[in-house]
Amino acid sequence: MDGSLHRQPASPLIDRFGREIRYLRLSVTDRCDLRCVYCMAERPDFLPRSELLTLEELSAIGRHFIARGVTKIRITGGEPLVRRDVIDLIEALGQHVGEGLDELTLTTNATQLAPHAERLARAGVRRINVSLDSLDAHRYARLTRGGSLETCLAGIAAARDAGIAIKINAVALKGENEAELPDLIAWAHGQGFDATLIEVMPLGEVGQDRADQFLPLSAVRDDLITRWTLTDLPDRTGGPSRYVRVEETGGRLGFITPLTSNFCAGCNRVRLTCTGELYTCLGHEGAIDLKSAFRQSGPAGLEACLEAAMATKPERHNFDVSRGAAPSVSRNMARTGG
Ligand code: 5AD
Ligand code: SF4
Repeated sequence: MDGSLHRQPASPLIDRFGREIRYLRLSVTDRCDLRCVYCMAERPDFLPRSELLTLEELSAIGRHFIARGVTKIRITGGEPLVRRDVIDLIEALGQHVGEGLDELTLTTNATQLAPHAERLARAGVRRINVSLDSLDAHRYARLTRGGSLETCLAGIAAARDAGIAIKINAVALKGENEAELPDLIAWAHGQGFDATLIEVMPLGEVGQDRADQFLPLSAVRDDLITRWTLTDLPDRTGGPSRYVRVEETGGRLGFITPLTSNFCAGCNRVRLTCTGELYTCLGHEGAIDLKSAFRQSGPAGLEACLEAAMATKPERHNFDVSRGAAPSVSRNMARTGG
């Protein structure tokens, strides 16, 4: 059997800057059962369900990307587990794990993890990212505009019990979870989880100035080193995270710094929205209409989209969170695929 680690696709996806695309983020819905203050407006306009790609289409498109050298697929949203029957897609793509795909993973807010954890594990999901910005029930409810911390923690526990490795993703928010971040990291490490901190990005209107939310991770790091010894790690998961080991907890901590330290040179990914728009950069407008191409021309249509994507993937994003700045792009993270 030819494992993916040794597989070279006939024609790998390489963009104008020599970056090889090996990672697809596949959004299955822009909907979510939470309303995180940095992600969405309080009353978001969700896309009509009739515009969504079907789960069969998503599966066929995923397979096509695997054939073109993609070795990692992340299912995202919105909250992917709010899409009915999404587990069928995960099971279908899971059949390629070890057969082209090195990793099938998921980003989730964990609210619906408890009932799904076992099946996810059986489908071949070995690791997941869980978005969790606070361990204080009141703050959690405020940040998510109504979410239950208890439900989230129960979901995390179920995934852990199913043998799935967990990374906790926390967006660092000025004056909000700022003081709590060391506790959140220590908790995650105490549970055997990785933790990653993320700088807020100016994606879409959320009803608040981004300058009031933005906390540079350079400041967080300065604070952490007054408490802990952070040792830089060479680990790269093919993503923008830079990792350190926290010697005191023994855990791994990642920093995603789209604002204070640009990471675009190593970008290996593209994103497909739930309505079939192919985005080659989180920070630019302009997508390729993969849904129409696929519906009209099948695999040949997909090929044309991939060629266009490699010819147009921008060199880098140019995020701006200065006071009064307009969002860098009009769509929010849940729309593009987290
Ligand atoms: N900036 C940074 N991170 C964001 N996320 C959602 N919106 C934003 C934003 N504007 C995070 C979520 C989740 C991941 C998919 O993206 O918290 O962890
Ligand atoms: Fe939902 Fe994730 Fe956006 Fe929060 S960050 S509203 S959990 S999609």
